[in-house]
Amino acid sequence: MASPSESLHAAADMVSGPRGRPPPAPPMTPAEPAIRFDKVDLRRGSRLIVGDASFALRKGAVTAVLGPSGAGKSTLLWAITGELAPSAGRIEVLGQPLPRPSQRELFALRRGMGVLLQGNGLLTDLSVFENVALPLRMHTDLPEEVLAELVRMKLSAVGLAEAGELMPQQLSGGMARRVALARALVLDPPLMLYDEPLTGLDPIACGVILALVRRLNDHLGMTSVVITHHVRETLEIADHVLVVANARVVFDGSPEALVRTEDPLLRQFLDGQPDGPIGFDYRGHRA
Ligand SMILES: Nc1ncnc2c1ncn2[C@@H]1O[C@H](COP(=O)(O)OP(=O)(O)OP(=O)(O)O)[C@@H](O)[C@H]1O
Ligand SMILES: [Mg+2]
Repeated sequence: MASPSESLHAAADMVSGPRGRPPPAPPMTPAEPAIRFDKVDLRRGSRLIVGDASFALRKGAVTAVLGPSGAGKSTLLWAITGELAPSAGRIEVLGQPLPRPSQRELFALRRGMGVLLQGNGLLTDLSVFENVALPLRMHTDLPEEVLAELVRMKLSAVGLAEAGELMPQQLSGGMARRVALARALVLDPPLMLYDEPLTGLDPIACGVILALVRRLNDHLGMTSVVITHHVRETLEIADHVLVVANARVVFDGSPEALVRTEDPLLRQFLDGQPDGPIGFDYRGHRA
């Protein structure tokens, strides 16, 4: 019996010709968003984590994703990387619908995404240079001198041109985060996803990372999504904001509109008030 992915290939062959030569992806027009959610439900088991989410993130924009702890911000990120399939609705990332028809196609799409998680994930027995070189060694056959040049360019983009020979243990928290950022960028992903990139950093290091997020986004022509609890600082560099609370996307708009809002739920979150319409029920929301 054909597996689901074989059946999908067979169906694709009927419209596109023999397997192995998939039709080229249609080029994205400038108006096409980098990420589109259309009436998306995300569940863990029977629990609805985020329901009926519809939004579009413009190519080239830096989007801040805000909301109380446990609201489902990281869950949105796992849906964007294709690790969590929606239980309803449609997701499109970089012009491709999710889920992808095969693991191979999912990996191909993921190569277009740089992900920076809270733990930097640096390998402690490799130098800074080798940590940044790792994705290039895994995914490309570039000659050593080209690879070295790419690593140097990315280290210099994060202000660490001289740090290649250091070991991770010799780095401050802010430097380690920047090395992790250089590594996430080294394959030139069109889309960068940051989950709490500021955790554990002092205010100056936070400012440095946020300025880098903005500058790299603009200079490298990327689209960025930044999940964060550092609301005020992040709003200063963001073009667009989503707020997730009570299992919904409760705000989708500009930083200016969010700061001006009089919506009681958003005000409770922005002003850090413990009581108000935002629920903190750890059992989540059942549909
Ligand atoms: N793998 C999983 N299996 C089951 N439930 C999960 C899983 N991952 C997350 N959840 C649940 O989904 C809800 C949302 O989690 P999520 O990590 O998306 O929140 P968050 O907004 O990122 O919170 P924080 O700001 O604390 O990181 C939580 O109630 C969490 O317990
Ligand atoms: Mg999270």
